[in-house]
Amino acid sequence: MELIQRPRRLRGNDAVRRLCRETRMSPDGLIYPIFVDETLRGVRPIEALPGQNHYGVDSVCQAVEACLEAGVNHGILFGLPATKDAVGTSAWAEDGVVQQAIRAIKQKYPDFYIITDVCLCEYTDHGHCGILCGHEVDNDKTLKVLAKTALSHVQAGADMVAPSDMMDGRVAAIRATLDEHGHQTTPIMAYSAKYASAFYGPFRSAAGSAPSFGDRRGYQMDPHNRKEALKECALDIEEGADIIMVKPALSYLDVIRECSDAYDLPMCAYQVSGEYAMIKATAAAGLINEYKVMCEAALSVFRAGANMLITYFAKELAQAIRKGDIG
Ligand code: PBG
Repeated sequence: MELIQRPRRLRGNDAVRRLCRETRMSPDGLIYPIFVDETLRGVRPIEALPGQNHYGVDSVCQAVEACLEAGVNHGILFGLPATKDAVGTSAWAEDGVVQQAIRAIKQKYPDFYIITDVCLCEYTDHGHCGILCGHEVDNDKTLKVLAKTALSHVQAGADMVAPSDMMDGRVAAIRATLDEHGHQTTPIMAYSAKYASAFYGPFRSAAGSAPSFGDRRGYQMDPHNRKEALKECALDIEEGADIIMVKPALSYLDVIRECSDAYDLPMCAYQVSGEYAMIKATAAAGLINEYKVMCEAALSVFRAGANMLITYFAKELAQAIRKGDIG
């Protein structure tokens, strides 16, 4: 048969398939989430996230060691404080759980790149991401506390801050506060298009951050919306964001593609707890190959246009990339 084009020529063996890959990944683009619990000594498995752990401040360096061994050099820290109140005081305390963890890590591993999640939901007794006024989160009051929190993380040694609260104007507020205190060079990674997603379930159980009433739809984005994501990114960029993010990842690949086409900033995606848990549970039920699905899911996010990925699979993915199974 006379066929001029035979796409299968470039699929004939592994060497040519690798040669022609359109998407290239590197462990350098992976960020690993680390949960630090102020009330814990040692390490405790997280029930809602099989394979993940809570770390005490005394043992958080173990999490970092495992990352470095796997070739992952970036982590994002989440804190579980010993005490909570209505206004999230423990979020910005100088000896708060995240602040202590940063100091412990930086003392031993100064080159491990620490990003901190800046939000109040783990630190408020009502579980909302800001200061309440009645049953609503008061946007402008919350900004001051978020800025204070971000500053305390940077003063403890964080390399980058990542506000995930979805208040209006938070990037500008954080930028101004960091600059005032001489931290002009510390970048902000904005959770720009963060949707009010049901995929956060396991995280909220792991971080003890589920809202005690209502939900987060008053501040996180409506999953129906696409243009609003472009607007949120544009606002964050105007306010001084250095990196924009779309979250969750797999159900929002279209949004990742559009935002990465529209803006020239580095783009992060967050493969969230529910995405991870679904792969784990389905594999545990014997229905899918965990390793291959992990690889394919991560790859799709980069193919959609993300330059970096926050994922609970970061260590395993780094190894898969090194082996050439992806990327
Ligand atoms: C804090 C925050 C959440 C996640 C990251 N930062 C939870 C939420 O918004 O309810 C979710 C991460 C995940 O599900 O893996 N606001």
